[in-house]
This record gives sequence, C-alpha cells and structure tokens, in this order.
Amino acid sequence: MRPLLRLMTLADHAAAHGLWRRTEGMGLGAADTEEQVGRFLVRNPGLSWVAERDGVLVGTALCGHDGRRGFIYHLAVDRESRGLGVGRALVERCVTGLEAGGVTRVHILVFAANEAGRAFWEHLGFYARTELLLCSFNIG
Ligand SMILES: CC(C)(COP(=O)(O)OP(=O)(O)OC[C@H]1O[C@@H](n2cnc3c(N)ncnc32)[C@H](O)[C@@H]1OP(=O)(O)O)[C@@H](O)C(=O)NCCC(=O)NCCS
Repeated sequence: MRPLLRLMTLADHAAAHGLWRRTEGMGLGAADTEEQVGRFLVRNPGLSWVAERDGVLVGTALCGHDGRRGFIYHLAVDRESRGLGVGRALVERCVTGLEAGGVTRVHILVFAANEAGRAFWEHLGFYARTELLLCSFNIG
C-alpha cells in the first residue's frame, strides 16, 4: 500500500525517534526529546509531516520557520518505503506550507559526509551554500 501523508503530532514522537535512530545520516541530540520536539510542533503548527503505511510511521519531515526563513529537519524515509516518492512528497508539503506562510527560502542541514542525502537534496533543487559556515554555541 502506498504511504499516506498526514500532519505530525506529538503522539508520533516515539515512532519518529525510532525511525531517526535507525536511519543513516541522522544526527540526534538533546533537541530531539519529546519535550523539545513538542515545543517545535507548537511553535510551527501545520508544517511537519509524517508518512504512514498500514498504520506504521515510515517517514518524517520536521518543518518550521522563524518568520523569515524556513527549515526542514529530520527528513527520513524507512528503507522499505524508499523510491516511492515519499521523500519528495514530504518535502513538497513542507515547502507548500512555508510558502503559504510567506516564507520564500528554506534551509536544510545535511552532514557533508552524507553523499546520498546531499544528492537527494540537489536532485530536488536545493543548492549547497559553500560561501557559508554553520557555527553553533551551546547555551547552559
Ligand atoms: C533521502 C531520502 C529521504 C529519500 O527518500 P525517498 O522516499 O526514497 O525519495 P523519493 O522516492 O521521494 O525520491 C524523490 C526523487 O529523488 C530521487 N532520489 C532519491 N534518493 C536519491 C539520492 N540518494 N540521490 C539522488 N536522487 C535521489 C528519486 O529518484 C526521485 O526522483 P524523481 O522524483 O525526479 O523521479 C531517504 O533515502 C532517506 O531517508 N535517507 C536517509 C536519511 C537522509 O539522508 N535524509 C536526508 C538528509 S538529512
């Protein structure tokens, strides 16, 4: 059966976290707890999606924006459900939601070593910003 897409809710967290843990190229950390993902979903309603197959979660895309720029995190599709257009459909739902909110550019983070992930994003028209460097600061 072809996977169905629906909006992500906090009730999906356990299954989503399980998918992220078994997916190559995913970086997981303190921001991925139920509490933190819940905060993200509340701050960004109607933008994050899951794919389900026979009632089982097989894909995710966390999406939000800061008023100016959009972000997509944790795009993952379970191995058995790849190659069916699920990844593209999840990204398109995210982009459509951002556009409806007046956001005109979306960023993604992908590990430089994740060549397959990189190739996927480039196939969808995302381009590497080689002139930029991502820097982080740990608070607390
Ligand atoms: C990347 C990923 C989400 C793709 O999911 P998917 O459901 O298999 O992708 P789709 O079937 O929707 O493919 C959409 C298009 O991308 C292409 N594509 C898929 N994987 C690709 C890859 N690794 N490189 C280049 N193109 C790719 C498909 O051929 C398809 O092309 P078309 O729509 O023009 O015919 C999935 O492989 C995955 O979860 N990978 C591990 C996690 C990851 O790397 N996530 C992204 C980085 S954070």
